[in-house]
Formats: sequence, structure tokens, C-alpha cells
Amino acid sequence: MWTATAPANIALIKYMGKGEGNIPRNVSLSYTLDKFYTEVSLTLTSDCDKYVGPVEPGPEATERFINHLKYIKKICGCEDFFIISSGNYRLLADGNTASFPHSAGIASSASSFAALTMCAFKAMSDLKGMPLPSLEQQSSVSRVGSGSSCRSFFSPWCLWMGEKTEKIDIRIDKLLTDLVVVDTHPKEVSSSRAHELVSSSLLMNGREKRAEIRLERLLTALNGNQWESAYQICWEEFWDMNALFETSVPNFGYMQPETMRILTEIRKFWKQNGDGPIVTMDAGPNVHLLWRTDQKNLRDLLLLPYL
Ligand code: DP6
Repeated sequence: MWTATAPANIALIKYMGKGEGNIPRNVSLSYTLDKFYTEVSLTLTSDCDKYVGPVEPGPEATERFINHLKYIKKICGCEDFFIISSGNYRLLADGNTASFPHSAGIASSASSFAALTMCAFKAMSDLKGMPLPSLEQQSSVSRVGSGSSCRSFFSPWCLWMGEKTEKIDIRIDKLLTDLVVVDTHPKEVSSSRAHELVSSSLLMNGREKRAEIRLERLLTALNGNQWESAYQICWEEFWDMNALFETSVPNFGYMQPETMRILTEIRKFWKQNGDGPIVTMDAGPNVHLLWRTDQKNLRDLLLLPYL
């Protein structure tokens, strides 16, 4: 049996809009979410590739997962069959773990495809006697399964541009991360479908450039300890992505009334304290917060009502 784990990641500059092989329309930058990870294991079997859970992503997503293993087997010329098992876990403050839901905008496809890719290459390398491919190569293969998974190979910061992912050194390299959960039900529009739909938005015009400009500004802010500026840029960026959703034809969206209430509270908190978290959201109603390590007291103040 082979096992691998991979963390989720949260993008501050978002991947939205893609071409063949999940080549992104624009650059993205992510921070690794060590607290959320997927563990995949592969066991040899005799008849065909099978998925056995414990995560139950539904038939379509399961097929996509199995197909990704088949893709890696083909690259490596492997004709063996495997039983795939995959679990999503969340590391709790007391050191215990709990499971976390799939398809709810908590980046589980990133961690699960990255873990499957890593695990498959471990198995291939043992069975075929081949050296393990580099992280860059594994990341590139993982991208074909699910785009955002290619960023889970580089920690804590990963830059993704076209076919290339790389670790990027940023002065602020340790952040505290929180997820304010609004809803964990699987979303109606998957992120893969969102990538297709946004091409119908007129706001797609100039999107590449906006992401590029924000990346430059964000790197300057994070390297220059300009935290408020980083917060402002990330806020603009997730709203930019949500504006793409809302202006697609047909339009769709993930924000819920509770999401809006939380975002308004956070904006008020920033005004009152002159400080606060970086806020971002994925294709889902839940809110991600990132804090500097010296903001522990501030974090307790904001999060007390949610804990
Ligand atoms: C909204 O990686 O889930 O989370 O490539 O179709 O698998 P596929 O899409 P996926 O897209 C996630 C996009 C996002 C923003 C981001 O992570 O950058």
C-alpha cells in the first residue's frame, strides 16, 4: 500500500478562467493551508481501478478522480489496478483531526488531486523502478487533474503562471489561518463549471492584467510589511472574481446573506481597530481569514462570536 498527504491552499490572487489542460488565464498566488489536508492511499488489486471513499464526492467527481490515476498510469506505462481511498481532514486546535467536506469551496479538490498525484507517483516509482519525478513535474501532472492542486506542492507560498508553478519567498511567511464556515453543502455550480461560465462575462476583458497588477502590488505590500494594503488588494481580488460570477451568462454566485454579514463585520472591525485580517473567498460562501502571527489578541477579539 502507498499513502500520501497533501495540504489545501488558498489563493490570494485567484485562478479563474482556464484553457486546455487547466492552463490558467491569469497568474495566481496561494498560501498553503496546513490545517486542511487529504490523505490518499493506493492498494494493488486484480480487476480494475476502484474508489472506496471515505469521501463520497458523487459519481462524476469520483470518475474524474479515477481518470486522473489512469492518466498517471498511462504516463508511466503502468498496467496494474488500484483501490483508491481518500479522506479529507482538518487539524483541530487540540491536535486531534476531524473530517472536512468536499465540494463546499474549502479547496478539497486541490488537496485531494495533489495527494492522489503524489501517491500515484510513489506507487509508480516502486512498481516501475523509476525515480520519483521532481515536485515541479508532479505539480504539472496534478494540474491536469484539477488546476488549483498544482499549487499544493509548494509551501508556504506558491506562484502559478501558465504551465509553471514555483515556491516564492515572501517576507511574511507564517500566517495564522481561519475558515469561517457559512455552509458546507456541496455547491450548485462547481468551480470547474465556474471556469467555463466566466468566459461569458464582459468583465473577463482585462482580467489577466488586473490579476498581474494586483500580484505585483501584493508582493510589494507583503514584502514591505504593508498589511493594510495587502488586505485591500486581496479584498479587491476576491470581489473581482465574484463579479465575474455575477456577470456571467447565465449569472451565478456563492455569497449568502450570512457571508455578507460576516464581510460587513470584518470591514467594521478594520475601521474600528485600524488593523485586521486579510480576507478572501473561493467559489463558495465560506470566508477565509489570514492573520500575522502578532495579531493573536486581535484575532480572538474578532473570532470570539464564531468560536
Ligand atoms: C475559485 O482548481 O477547483 O478556488 O481546475 O476545474 O479543477 P479545476 O478548478 P479548481 O478551481 C478553483 C478556483 C478557485 C480559485 C483558486 O483556487 O485560485
